[in-house]
Amino acid sequence: MQIQLETQPYSSVAADALVACVFDQENKFEGALGDVNKSMHGRLESLAASGEITGKALETVLIHFPEGLAAQRLLLVGAGKREKFSAGDLRKIAGTALRYLKGRGLKTFGFLAPEAGRGPSAAQAVVEGLIVADFESDKYRSEKKPREIRSVSLVGFDSGLGADLTAAIEQGRVIAESQNFARDLINEPSNKLTPRMLAAKAEAMAKEVGLGIEILDERKIAELKMGALIGVAQGSVEPPRMIVLRYEPLHARPGGPVLGLVGKAVTFDTGGISIKPANNMEAMKYDMGGGATMLAAMRALAFLKPSVSVIAVIPATENMPGGRAQKPGDVQTAMSGKTIEVINTDAEGRLILADGVFYARKLGATHLIDAATLTGAIGVALAHVNVGAFGTPREYLDQFLESAKATGEKMWPMPMDEEYQEMIKSNIADIRNTGSGKGGGASTAAWFIREFVGDTPWIHLDIASTCWLDEGRPWLAKGPTGVAIRSIIDFALKL
Ligand code: BES
Ligand code: MN
Ligand code: ZN
Repeated sequence: MQIQLETQPYSSVAADALVACVFDQENKFEGALGDVNKSMHGRLESLAASGEITGKALETVLIHFPEGLAAQRLLLVGAGKREKFSAGDLRKIAGTALRYLKGRGLKTFGFLAPEAGRGPSAAQAVVEGLIVADFESDKYRSEKKPREIRSVSLVGFDSGLGADLTAAIEQGRVIAESQNFARDLINEPSNKLTPRMLAAKAEAMAKEVGLGIEILDERKIAELKMGALIGVAQGSVEPPRMIVLRYEPLHARPGGPVLGLVGKAVTFDTGGISIKPANNMEAMKYDMGGGATMLAAMRALAFLKPSVSVIAVIPATENMPGGRAQKPGDVQTAMSGKTIEVINTDAEGRLILADGVFYARKLGATHLIDAATLTGAIGVALAHVNVGAFGTPREYLDQFLESAKATGEKMWPMPMDEEYQEMIKSNIADIRNTGSGKGGGASTAAWFIREFVGDTPWIHLDIASTCWLDEGRPWLAKGPTGVAIRSIIDFALKL
């Protein structure tokens, strides 16, 4: 899909459609839409009067052969109340428009900037919305739908700022394509994406964009005594990998911050000996979503070049039952030296993250973010709406939540009281891998990771319920979402 800035007036953009935003307010047709309404002899007004055009968020109204426009169609997308309008809304509007028009087999359209959003950040949001909405999950279909949006022109954006606008569009493209890179990985079934295959893909990506990469194989992992990761991996014939990526800024400040991104990459989670029920188990191919998130963030940062050093540490393994698998009650020694009583082999994500965050610190990370499809409990608390965000110190978490807000990703701060730490005390080892007692599963899981974080500022994102959508939204296909990537990129750029 080609996306370009268009300097012609909207009325002369010859395309299959022109997309415009309508606000939910008394006077809906002013400015450009006012002129369109006039050249259409007030027909837009009558549609509003009959209640067909309300401007409610993401309402779509398609008008054919609009008089006065070179475009074949006018697609009006509801933008909601103007007072509440943000770049996030624009992202959704652009995505909704693309999916609406693509679904009808159209090939080209113009997107008219609303008066409330004509600058670089608006253009970036539109580009992100378009590219993310264009994602298809048809890799393994023999017959692909011939639908393709070939070209979108951005109309009426404020080109007075020239270079800024072009840079914003480029940045939007990098971020959205990285998000789609993660979604492609998350879609892969586990027979097409083993830990070794994931490592190979990470390597290919790193070479392509110019990141440093090191892949620890099972021998190196054993040498480093990553006992928590080994415990999970030992049930599978597929060996684990620890994937390490490095981004170095051109002028690294000596003693400056090093951001460590740690992502859970369980390429398939059967639960191990504490095996999961058959129903929906196929979903557990996406249990590497946290790892894909960090790979995608690194890919984007390689282009966007923040001034901080960033390393990504991605423990990759399967979680399988088998003759060699770890068993409930087993005690493992993590790389840090802490001993873990494995009460439930299905609580494997926190185990591999224990070695992941510890290793990231050993490699010099001064700040940590981890992302993981960690607990079903986070879905009970927040459903598919919010990412569960944990962290310490609180100011560090708040700083991250600012990035989430700025990039339109919903996240909610979750509690980490010491009472939850009490719940992971073991009778025979330092800690146990599940909470004793009832409830609080997302918080006890977070506390488990925290046991390996030390004093390093740390954020933990539980994306178990937001990494994958069972139902599509108007602006987003069902399946992998690529959530949290935008926030992490924004945070790294601001650190
Ligand atoms: N990968 C799962 C969590 C998960 C559940 C991700 C649903 C996506 C959708 C994780 O490894 C797991 O099995 N967690 C257990 C922990 C429990 C045994 C303490 C859970 O949440 O049930
Ligand atoms: Mn599990
Ligand atoms: Zn898991």
